[in-house]
Amino acid sequence: MNDVPRSFRGNSNAARDIAHHLHPYTNFKKHEQTGPLTIVRGRGIYVVDDDGKEYIEGMAGLWSAALGFSNERLATVAYEQMKQLPFYHAFNQRSHEPAINLAEKLKAMAPVPMSKVFFANSGSEANDTVVKMVWYMNNALGRPQKKKIISRIKGYHGITVAAGSLTGLPTNHRSFDLPIAGILHTSCPHYYRFGKDGETEEQFATRCAEELEQLIIAEGPDTVAAMIAEPVMGAGGVIVPPKGYYEKIQAVCRKYDMLFVADEVICGFGRTGNVWGCQTMNIQPDILTCAKALSASFLPISAVMVNEKVYQALMSESDKIGTWGHGFTYSGHPVAAAVALEAQKIYDETDLFGHAKRMSPAFTKHIQSFADHPLVGEAMSVGLVGALEVVADKKTKTPFDLATVGAGLRVANHAQARGLFVRNMGDRVAICPPLIINEAELADLFGRLRQSLDATLADLRSDGHFKG
Ligand SMILES: Cc1ncc(COP(=O)(O)O)c(C=O)c1O
Repeated sequence: MNDVPRSFRGNSNAARDIAHHLHPYTNFKKHEQTGPLTIVRGRGIYVVDDDGKEYIEGMAGLWSAALGFSNERLATVAYEQMKQLPFYHAFNQRSHEPAINLAEKLKAMAPVPMSKVFFANSGSEANDTVVKMVWYMNNALGRPQKKKIISRIKGYHGITVAAGSLTGLPTNHRSFDLPIAGILHTSCPHYYRFGKDGETEEQFATRCAEELEQLIIAEGPDTVAAMIAEPVMGAGGVIVPPKGYYEKIQAVCRKYDMLFVADEVICGFGRTGNVWGCQTMNIQPDILTCAKALSASFLPISAVMVNEKVYQALMSESDKIGTWGHGFTYSGHPVAAAVALEAQKIYDETDLFGHAKRMSPAFTKHIQSFADHPLVGEAMSVGLVGALEVVADKKTKTPFDLATVGAGLRVANHAQARGLFVRNMGDRVAICPPLIINEAELADLFGRLRQSLDATLADLRSDGHFKG
C-alpha cells in the first residue's frame, strides 16, 4: 500500500478515475501510474484543481474556451432553454427557434455568401459530414469518380473515421488502420521546417502549390473533389502559412474544379484577429466548418456552412433519393444552439473580436521576445494563437531527440508546476489563451512561460542535452 501515491488511495478522484475512466489522447499505462489532474472549477482565464491549485489556462482548454471558464449569462440561457424545450430534433423537417436563430446568425457572419447551415456536435462530426457532402454532391452532379479529398501533412481535422483520415498526423492513423481510401495528404506549409536553403517564403508557397498540383495530376484531376485546410494549422504545431500561399493553393483548386473547405474549428470566432481565419488568410471557401468557440465551449455544438452551389447539388440528390440520409440526434440541439447564440451576442456586445485584435500586438511582442532565447528556434503567432519551437541548435534548426529528451514536454511540465497550462506538440509549445485575456494577464502568462523555458534550459544543460 505504501508505494501507492497518497492521492490514489481509497475513494479519491484519482483512484476512481484510474479505475473507471478511459481518457481521450492518453497513454493508459502512464495514466495508471501517475493518475489524472482533476479540475474542479474555473473563473475567467483560470482553472483550479482538486488540491486548490490555480492555473492560467494558456490553451483555453482545447483552443476553445473564448470566454474563459465562467459566465452567468450562458448559464442562465441554458437553464431557461432547458425549462422551455430541453430537447428537440431537426430530422424530417422538424425545427425549433434556437437552431433557426443560430443558422441565421452564422450565415450573417460568414466570410463569403453561404446558403445553409448544418449542425453537428463536434469538429470531427462536422468534418465527417463534409466528406459525405462532397461524395453526395459529386454523385448528384453525375461524376461519381470525383471523390478524393486532399488535406495536408500535419493538418488536424478530428478523429472520427473520415475526419481522422483527413488529419495528417501519424498518431491519429497508427494502429487505427487509417487513413481510409481516397484521402490524400499534400505538403505542410511550414516554411521554418520545410523551406529549402535559399528558398524565399514566396518561392516556398509556390512550391507548395506546385506539389499540390502534381498530386492532383498524378491522381487524375477528374478523381479529386476537394481540399480541406485549417487557415492556421493548430494541433500540427500552430503553423501560419507564408504570405500568398492560399492564393496559390486556391487557384490550383479552382483550376481542377475542386471545392475548397475551410476548417475554422480553431480559427473561427476571433482567434486570428478577425472573425474568421479565412479573412486573415484570404480564403474564399465553398464549405466552412466551425465548433469550439461557436458556443465558447460551454456546450458541444459544431456547424457546417455550405454555399449555394453545394446546396443545390445536395438538394437535388435528396429529392432524387427521398432524403439526405445524414444527421445526428443532437444536430442543432436547442440548449447548445441557444447557448451558442448567446455566446455570439456576448461576443458582439463586448466587442470580443475587437478586444482580441487589440491584444494581438502585445501577444506578438511577448512571443517574439522569446526569439533570442537559447532554446527557441522559431517564435510564431497570429492574433491570439502562437507557438515556440524548442531546438537543440538554433543555427542548424537541429531538433532534440523527441523520445529521449522530450524538451517540449519539459517546458509544458515546468509551466504546469508554475500554474500555467500550455500544450506541447512534440517540441512546439502552443499558447492559445481565452480571448478575454487582458494585458496584465498576458504579462503574467508569458512571465511564467519564460521561467519554464529557463528551467528547461537549466535541466537540459545539467542532463548534458544542451551544450549552448
Ligand atoms: C482544426 C480542427 N478541426 C477539427 C477538430 C476536431 O474537433 P473535435 O475534437 O470537436 O471533434 C479540431 C480539434 O481540436 C481542430 O482543431
